[in-house]
Amino acid sequence: MEDVQARVAWLREEIRKHDYQYYVLDQPLISDAEYDRLVRELLELERQHPELVTPDSPTRRVGGEPLPGFRQVRHRVPLLSLDNAFSEAEIRDFHRRVSERVEGEVSYVTELKMDGVSVALVYENGVLVSGATRGDGAVGEDVTANVRTIRSLPLRLRQELPRLEVRGEVYLAKEVFARLNQEREERGERTFANPRNAAAGSLRQLDPRVTAGRSLAVVLYDVLYAEGVTLATQQEVLEFLARVGLPVEPHYRFCPGVEEVLAFCREWQQRRHELAYDIDGVVIKLDSLPARELLGSTVKSPRWAIAYKFPAEEKVTRLLTVEANVGRTGVITPTAILEPVTLAGTVVSRASLHNFDLAREKDIRVGDLVVVHKAGDIIPEVVGPLTESRTGNESELVPPERCPVCGSQVVRFSGEVALRCDNINCPARLVESLVFFASRDAMDIEGLGPALAAQLVEKGMVRNVADLYYLSAEQLAELPRMGKKSAANLVRALEKSKARPLHRLLHALGIRHVGLKSARLLAAHFPDIDLFPGLSREQLTALPEVGEKMAESVMAFFAEPRNLETIERLKAAGVNTREPVAGGVQTGPLAGKVFVLTGTLASMTRAEAGALIESLGGKTSSSVSRRTDYVVAGTDPGSKLQVARELGVTVLGEEEFLRLTGRAGS
Ligand code: IVH
Repeated sequence: MEDVQARVAWLREEIRKHDYQYYVLDQPLISDAEYDRLVRELLELERQHPELVTPDSPTRRVGGEPLPGFRQVRHRVPLLSLDNAFSEAEIRDFHRRVSERVEGEVSYVTELKMDGVSVALVYENGVLVSGATRGDGAVGEDVTANVRTIRSLPLRLRQELPRLEVRGEVYLAKEVFARLNQEREERGERTFANPRNAAAGSLRQLDPRVTAGRSLAVVLYDVLYAEGVTLATQQEVLEFLARVGLPVEPHYRFCPGVEEVLAFCREWQQRRHELAYDIDGVVIKLDSLPARELLGSTVKSPRWAIAYKFPAEEKVTRLLTVEANVGRTGVITPTAILEPVTLAGTVVSRASLHNFDLAREKDIRVGDLVVVHKAGDIIPEVVGPLTESRTGNESELVPPERCPVCGSQVVRFSGEVALRCDNINCPARLVESLVFFASRDAMDIEGLGPALAAQLVEKGMVRNVADLYYLSAEQLAELPRMGKKSAANLVRALEKSKARPLHRLLHALGIRHVGLKSARLLAAHFPDIDLFPGLSREQLTALPEVGEKMAESVMAFFAEPRNLETIERLKAAGVNTREPVAGGVQTGPLAGKVFVLTGTLASMTRAEAGALIESLGGKTSSSVSRRTDYVVAGTDPGSKLQVARELGVTVLGEEEFLRLTGRAGS
């Protein structure tokens, strides 16, 4: 007996922990099937020992608690949950229970069980007025603003009914889920375990704009309340929903008896992978609504319906090794290399481990037998190891200290789980870095798009962004699909881009967390790139808008020798690395002074000299007039020098200019 008590306590603790992982963190540590096993064992023990049941046992609760932050709404009709069946025998048991209470032939409607989030919607006079999550079944969260962003959901019905309350499921298509997760992985954010968690996370966003970007979808399957409408069967319910313009999952079927129900379950267990969205089973519903009244419900679920859950598609295979892969944005993710197994219709030999923390939390070791499944029916994942079959020859995972592609020191920013390669020239990142470098808000290099960037990297002509400035028109003209003219144009565009102000360059370098706006702010305070390697956390965070994260990534960027080398090569190519002071500013040693440049300077390009003048508060002009304060004359000056002499404007040689700008001797 004591054993039972201990087991019950352990199961409850375990289930609570997994509930938290699942509902709050959206990061389950075990598969649904394993979770179901725990709940079933607890239910069974509680059935055998009713004296052990406590009101706070996880079995007494229907769903997740509403999150703070959303207004709570009490459902007019409680949103019940469903009992589960895991085998044909359990479906037959359900049918037997129903048949005992209902006279005559018992027919059903079978529907695909969408793996999403349950919602209740209210339409008043045909207009959508409310959307709420199920919450604990009695009280949910008001997510009206978010529900309104779902494209497939009409904001107005085709038929103007005084009041209609419906229930359905909000979900994410598999492809959308895969894309969302890929983006999150690239940004070093936690990925969603499955489309349902992704849908829940998206629906419970406090900012509806985020929800809108997630491409949620919805289907409706139940009428909770309909003023002025009489419906007699589930078929009529679904037809009615479709008639008023609401989306309905189209594969439902009328089944005159239990054999047809079983056939439907078998069929979709096979065919589930054909669908664009994830389903986790079949919902079997008594067709006749009056007969449902007769059967009634328990506190938790109706007696007239049951959810047949497909067996989880899991396989056991051997983890051969773990590869560290570098993504386009530098995020390093561990990938499990597996002994190939067939899983949910395809052969799987690689599976994501997401990040090293998670892999360690799950205690996955090389050589382990591991359980694999497909998240959202598409993304192979390692669920966990079978620890009991270890031989002792397994080895723990070691996160790489150096980037496996370029050898740079791996960095990890606080608050992030991802490890990163922060070298912008890492070949794994280079194509994307180049395209970004050349983009409109960055260095604005016309004609340098993804196709050309890929060619340059592939041919080994460009190994870092600075190499761009060392390309000749002749070299470029040799590339396929690149004529002499476009080569010359590109060289011209590159030349033009050299004069961009520092903030564009900072942005172009792709320093994490430094967007165009922050780049402007940084460059305004530190107007020369040479100031950056020496900046301390305090100096950076002293600026408004610069938080810990940005400070950290700026420091990491300028601590990487490869990045500094790139900057030196950019400078050597004549790329400007200074910031003109905004609006020809009133402060700075050269405030209000107008300069004209003529001839060639030995120490810097014209563009650089211009940027330097502007960074100190001065202005440049292309022609000499009485308003000109200084003409800076290099070697081979043009007629401007002549004009200056005639007008009595001060002429500076290069040395004098450098002294005036504080660069002498540099
Ligand atoms: S009927 C009282 N029909 O599955 C009626 N539920 O495991 C209860 N679900 O909470 C729901 N597709 O979120 C029903 N076609 C469908 C469904 C469906 C998905 C979800 C729903 C429910 C859960 C029960």
